Amino acid sequence: MNFSLIKELTDRPKLYDKGTSVMWTDPYISKQLLELHLNPENDAASRSKEKIENISNWILRQSDKPKMKILDLGCGPGLYAELLAKKGHIVTGVDFSENSIRYATTQAKEKQLDIDYIHQNYLNLDFDSQFDLVILIYLDFCVLLPQEREKVLANIYRSLKKGGKFIFDVVNEKNITKKTLSKVWEVQKNGFWKPAPYIALTNGYHYPEAKVLAEHHIVIGENDNVDTYIFWNHYYEKDHMVSILESKGFTNIKNHENVLPDSNDFWNGENITFYVAEKE
Ligand SMILES: C[S@@+](CC[C@H](N)C(=O)[O-])C[C@H]1O[C@@H](n2cnc3c(N)ncnc32)[C@H](O)[C@@H]1O
Repeated sequence: MNFSLIKELTDRPKLYDKGTSVMWTDPYISKQLLELHLNPENDAASRSKEKIENISNWILRQSDKPKMKILDLGCGPGLYAELLAKKGHIVTGVDFSENSIRYATTQAKEKQLDIDYIHQNYLNLDFDSQFDLVILIYLDFCVLLPQEREKVLANIYRSLKKGGKFIFDVVNEKNITKKTLSKVWEVQKNGFWKPAPYIALTNGYHYPEAKVLAEHHIVIGENDNVDTYIFWNHYYEKDHMVSILESKGFTNIKNHENVLPDSNDFWNGENITFYVAEKE
């Protein structure tokens, strides 16, 4: 691999540069992700089992309807969808990971749960006034680029019934300067990114003018084959979030901190804000 290519690859990305590849839908990586989702102990792809149970119960306490139609966007293997269905709600889960949707569908059938899973990109949602509640959980809102955010919010608003609620969580601005990833080198015979030898170079960057942290992964495989993955993780102050939601028609917007416990976890109750917004 020549010097100028390495230099170019490891330069600070320009704001909203796209990587060459998508992690969630890669056939090999999505298998590693499914294992991480299903590990009840860690917060890697889904939060720990205990946190998911607590968050699901908290979500249900935000509404007083005993039987809701719920849309779970980015449902992964259905960890929230199952808990909500077990409480008597009718759930639709949407995810663009084929692997997760396949697993979730099999589980729902085996457990005889009323969940409809759809393999779809949630940027292209097409529901109209169908749901009492839409959830988008585990900071997925943060990685939406501004144009995508506009589109997803408009779709969510349309998919809700009058009086329906949208619940989601985001990173807030507290201690944000401590949240930029450090440089990490990884040399593997096989692992998370590839079933063959690779070198992964990870670096983090802060773009304060856009209130976004970038997570940049460069994965170099055999034959100098390179994949890059960039996640743009926005953080949101309350006033900004309220203005974004109001511009799409949402009202009765409430922010909740400490839904997650205060802990030494990288993202804890202090750094994560949950929002509840209503369709008028
Ligand atoms: C961080 S995981 C969270 C999964 C789940 N909400 C949870 O907390 O257990 C993000 C999920 O969103 C899915 N996802 C990301 N972008 C998506 C998109 N544009 N359309 C559909 N699913 C998406 C991923 O495949 C992944 O399952």
